[in-house]
Amino acid sequence: MATSDMGAPYHVGIIMDGNGRWAKRRLLPRLAGHRAGMKRMLSLIEHAFDTGIKELTLFALSTENLSRPKEELDGLFDLFRLYFTQHITPLCEKGIRLRVIGDRTLIPADIARLIAEAEEKTKGGERALLTFAIGYGGQQDIVAACNKAVSEGKPQTLESFAEKLSTGGMSAMDLLIRTGGEMRLSNFLLFEAAYAELWFSEKMFPAFSDEDFDEAIRDYRTRDRRFGKLRK
Ligand code: IPE
Ligand code: IPE
Ligand code: MG
Repeated sequence: MATSDMGAPYHVGIIMDGNGRWAKRRLLPRLAGHRAGMKRMLSLIEHAFDTGIKELTLFALSTENLSRPKEELDGLFDLFRLYFTQHITPLCEKGIRLRVIGDRTLIPADIARLIAEAEEKTKGGERALLTFAIGYGGQQDIVAACNKAVSEGKPQTLESFAEKLSTGGMSAMDLLIRTGGEMRLSNFLLFEAAYAELWFSEKMFPAFSDEDFDEAIRDYRTRDRRFGKLRK
């Protein structure tokens, strides 16, 4: 797929769901599913950018996920530590700007520091933008933006309000993929995905292949994005 391909989505989001069920079906602990999911994610990031996607936004951990058992969360945080240090930051140093959205006070301080360092190291990246949503909730983010607006004390436009969200500056989402068979947003990008095309895959995230991603992109290209207007 050529980089300049007309009709290729510019900004793709993925709700990476199904790690636990993938593991359960193999009689493995849930954490083995998260491990397999992280591995898959890393290859998929490279593949997506190779196909010319300019922005990729990945839902890794929701605000609500923070209520999961401590054992699962500790395992997930260990994986974040490992992946940010050994894989994601080095990958991004090849011209990809890394950004993390979500409430950093909800995650361990050392991970928040790793993230801040990675963002700083990669801030000059112009090839593409990779955003992780960690400790992120769309509703919480909207309320936080409202509070900023209140303290500013003046009426907001759509644009000025969008800038106050943790996604401020991000382009509108073109295609939102959810793996794992569920057909819901689970509090992801409620404001930003207003006109995103949706693609649901039955595959559990660790089994969602590069080819599955390509299939979603091909389907996206056939969509008629009218944005509420009449067809031209
Ligand atoms: C998604 O997989 C990853 C996170 C939410 C951290 P799940 O852990 O939700 O996997 P399932 O949905 O239970 O299979
Ligand atoms: C959504 O998956 C969150 C992430 C993939 C990070 P969940 O597994 O938390 O969503 P629900 O509980 O099925 O809605
Ligand atoms: Mg799930």
